[in-house]
Amino acid sequence: MELHPLSLACFLATILFLFLNPHCEAQLLPTFYDQTCPNALTTIRSVIRTAISRERRMAASLIRLHFHDCFVQGCDASILLDAVPPLTSEKNAPQNFESARGFNVIDDVKSRVENICPGVVSCADILAVAARDASVAVGGPSWAVKLGRRDSTTASQSQATMDLPGLFDDLNTLISSFSRRGLNARDLVALSGAHTIGQAGCGTFRFRIYNGTNIDANFVSTRRRSCPSIGGDRNLAALDLVTPNSFDNNYYKNLIQRKGLLESDQVLFSGGSTNNIVTEYSNNRDSFYSDFAAAMVKMGDVGPPLTGSAGQIRKICSAIN
Ligand code: HEM
Ligand SMILES: *[C@@H]1O[C@H](CO)[C@@H](O)[C@H](O)[C@H]1NC(C)=O
Repeated sequence: MELHPLSLACFLATILFLFLNPHCEAQLLPTFYDQTCPNALTTIRSVIRTAISRERRMAASLIRLHFHDCFVQGCDASILLDAVPPLTSEKNAPQNFESARGFNVIDDVKSRVENICPGVVSCADILAVAARDASVAVGGPSWAVKLGRRDSTTASQSQATMDLPGLFDDLNTLISSFSRRGLNARDLVALSGAHTIGQAGCGTFRFRIYNGTNIDANFVSTRRRSCPSIGGDRNLAALDLVTPNSFDNNYYKNLIQRKGLLESDQVLFSGGSTNNIVTEYSNNRDSFYSDFAAAMVKMGDVGPPLTGSAGQIRKICSAIN
């Protein structure tokens, strides 16, 4: 396998000093599986495409899974682990419970990839590739996914509850949550643009349509029709009311019209420091696309991911080996 110049330098330094040089984290590389599983990427793509052609919303669900994975312990597929005491599952954190979805599709991808290259491709990398393929499948941007992550042997429901953004986080809280992970305010605004597709349950936007501010009156009455003030928590509404199934920059146009569905959406355009970024993306689809792609690559580096001999390559994504 071809060595990245930096990994070669680290390798030599490690031999020289006979201990692991803490300054060289193994690099993720788009070519990581080129020799060890040359058909990995095409196999993943074909399963993802089929799943999305069956159900368009699956694209949204898969992009969200990668985000929720990376924000808790880094991008290590910790979100995929089922609860086996004493391990608690991130799936049961309130931000995921009865809401995170797409696990079956990831399991399906994993079993297909295990058939061609057993024990080689990590679940964490599958999540990252699935997110990119999902974006492309619904008209969003593409990017080269860096690979070589390994899977965690741990997960924690309480950690996920603390680490995933909350429904009522204000702008500064969101900015600092992203900045702790090496993502700046532009990345926050670009990544939130994933809400150009997918759906949210009434329980997540009820407060906003009954007691929220900075919201369009017609939008309020439309959304109240399928979201009563009590009950119906899982009644779904599109995050982007205009083009719910296409990846585009309508999300930002909605925010300018005060038609953001979630508090965390509208807070990006409510007079604060991110207003001008929202305006820019609403006027310039290409600038949103290229920033979204770059921010997804950055998000894939959160952790930093487990590499080398850390963690493991799970045989099935929902359980440790
Ligand atoms: C900035 C803080 C964020 C908050 C507070 C937030 C919150 C939420 C909530 C409450 C939902 C609806 C869940 C449900 O009712 O089932 C949702 C859906 C979604 N989120 Fe976010 N989100 C944030 C950022 C992001 C980011 C950065 C991404 C991806 C890069 C993302 C991707 C998605 C997608 C695609 C959906 C739709 C999922 C589906 O239809 O299955 N979100 N988000
Ligand atoms: C809205 O505010 C009123 C008055 O404070 C309160 O009684 C009601 O429960 C709130 N509704 C929602 C959906 O938050």
